[in-house]
Amino acid sequence: MTDLYQIADTSGILSPGLLFYADLIRQNLARAVELVGDPSRLCLHVKTHKCPEIVKLERSYGITKHKCATIAEAEMVAQCGAADALISYPIVGPNVQRLVALVKAYPATRFAALVDHPLSAQMLSDAMSKAGLVLDVLMDVDVGHHRTGIAPGPEAIALYEQMNRLSGLRTVGLHVYDGHNNQANFVERETETLKQFNPALKLRETLSVKGLPTPRLIAGGTPTFPIYARMTIPGLECSPGTLVLHDHGYGAKFADLKTFTPAALLLTRVISRPTPTRVTFDLGNKAVASDPGPGKRLILLDVPAHEQVLQNEEHLGIETPHASQFKPGDEVLAIPTHVCPTVALHRYAYVIEAGRLVGTWAITGRDRVLSV
Ligand SMILES: Cc1ncc(COP(=O)(O)O)c(C=O)c1O
Repeated sequence: MTDLYQIADTSGILSPGLLFYADLIRQNLARAVELVGDPSRLCLHVKTHKCPEIVKLERSYGITKHKCATIAEAEMVAQCGAADALISYPIVGPNVQRLVALVKAYPATRFAALVDHPLSAQMLSDAMSKAGLVLDVLMDVDVGHHRTGIAPGPEAIALYEQMNRLSGLRTVGLHVYDGHNNQANFVERETETLKQFNPALKLRETLSVKGLPTPRLIAGGTPTFPIYARMTIPGLECSPGTLVLHDHGYGAKFADLKTFTPAALLLTRVISRPTPTRVTFDLGNKAVASDPGPGKRLILLDVPAHEQVLQNEEHLGIETPHASQFKPGDEVLAIPTHVCPTVALHRYAYVIEAGRLVGTWAITGRDRVLSV
């Protein structure tokens, strides 16, 4: 494991430091394209990396469509000159006018947003038509996650008809996110995913029989990616995010995702040895996501038997009978359990290529507001 992550000279890396292994990111992107067969069938979520350099890297694999969770992420994507940015998050309040400003500011990017309620359809329509703009909209379909979306059924058909009638909006299809389909066993995950996806497919068929346009159907995250990737449904796009950087959480849980390799690590240094069995690192919960709970937020590579017993804002304490092997300044690499919120805690990542530090990449999309 450590061979994969070796760095010739770490003297330029401040700790705690976020590391992006560019070769492994490329490998993950290549595998995603290989699994799905055609990069135009990918709409990768940028919330995992929030990094313009990775948006550009994705383009070099023919990936031009991006999912975003925030207006700032969508602006970051547009600043990279990307063709397509979908904000897969309900737009309400002052964000409606921000979206108008974003669409105006970046005419080269085709933006899209989700709708799951008649009121949001109306608000977007009013704002876009007043500004003389037309925004692509997809209906967010709830297949069981119960976070956002509208259940397939008569109300969903009525909403889609309304969206299609409203000025300032162009209805372009359906969005399905099933983050709850995270069963460790692949067959169980697949069975449940297909069962729940079917009503969304039937809804699409009904809309199409009614003469309504549904060219796009954007589905899933990383755990369901292998399931959607092998479907041959016209217009289907897969929208995983995590697999670009991958992490310990998904890596440990999903044997079928072993084809992806964690590509974002943390470098930490020993800062203290307060007791004969305690080693303290500079890796607190301001450098690694505090989701999941204490003791489970990361794995330390090549540290002999130990238990993570303490984590504060800037400290990580482990208990180990091997503590005497460690001295202040010793370096250890860690794989985060949940990479997406971990990346968002860092302003930049150190980029490692062929075992050498070659520069830094900004995590631009971690800010809530860029220019609009
Ligand atoms: C709407 C939406 N689509 C796609 C994804 C990507 O999922 P994953 O992180 O499993 O790749 C997420 C993750 O939170 C999401 O919320």
